[in-house]
Amino acid sequence: MSHPLHIEPLALNIGALISGVDLREPLPAEQVAAIRQALIQWKVIFFRDQPLSHEQHIGFARQFGELTVGHPVFGSVEGYPEVYSVSKTRFGKRFEGPKLIRPWTGWHTDVTAAINPPAASILRGVTIPPFGGDTQWTNLEAAYDALSPTLRGFLETLRGEHRFTAPEGMAGKREFHDKVAARELVSLHPLVRVHPESGRRSLYVSPGFLKRIDGLTPRESEQLLALLFEHVIQPEFTVRFKWSEGAIAFWDNRSTAHLAPRELTELNHDRQLYRITLVGDIPVGVNGLHSEVLAGEPVLAYAAAQG
Ligand code: SIN
Repeated sequence: MSHPLHIEPLALNIGALISGVDLREPLPAEQVAAIRQALIQWKVIFFRDQPLSHEQHIGFARQFGELTVGHPVFGSVEGYPEVYSVSKTRFGKRFEGPKLIRPWTGWHTDVTAAINPPAASILRGVTIPPFGGDTQWTNLEAAYDALSPTLRGFLETLRGEHRFTAPEGMAGKREFHDKVAARELVSLHPLVRVHPESGRRSLYVSPGFLKRIDGLTPRESEQLLALLFEHVIQPEFTVRFKWSEGAIAFWDNRSTAHLAPRELTELNHDRQLYRITLVGDIPVGVNGLHSEVLAGEPVLAYAAAQG
């Protein structure tokens, strides 16, 4: 019989540290179920001291669903099609120019340009700076709950357009434009999403990808998005994680947004993490409001994509 997991909440609304498990080995069914339940409840769960190889990372992830290709647009680690390299230098290869920094700059939910954004992401720390480089997550269900019923009701009728663009103020380099053109992904998603497992509603706004609200004038859309983006990143909805070698962050991509550290280019230390994502479903809003593809194909399971 397996030992029960120890689950230690890290913040009021989001984030728990799980210990008492070795992720290098296949997990008993009851531990998989307990981890899955903790993920739904705490939105992002963390493990420390799990020195996984790429193969073990893949093996761990497969116990929770089908895996996508590392990244549908930006590819994968050579020899490991399901693994995406989250390297310190990746943005420098894609963009140039001074970034326009707003409070919500960099916050995003993974690959929401796709009609079926990944259900979850599993990020593994390998080379970690001695200081700096923390990641933050926010609970989009808590953000939804904190809005007035009147605004919630209005938002539940709306959908927003998600696409890949260069960060505000920056220009995409050739590599970025070529890759985005080769795998074009543009989708309309409900602004309020109903979680397929818990039935809970979240304010499904992904600042990095959500460019406009359908049916509003550009000015209305810009101002409402600014309000919502500022709202979802309030500190009380968030948790901040300090990485260590062998740490794992596993988040529910259907109810969270996260912020990769913005200070990396100024940090004189390397940082290398690896990410695996689980295939997601097509978001559904309140009253059956569905997402709609504007361009591109769904992100399939890696094996199915080959086949
Ligand atoms: C990501 O956005 O998936 C990466 C987060 C990070 O680099 O901390």
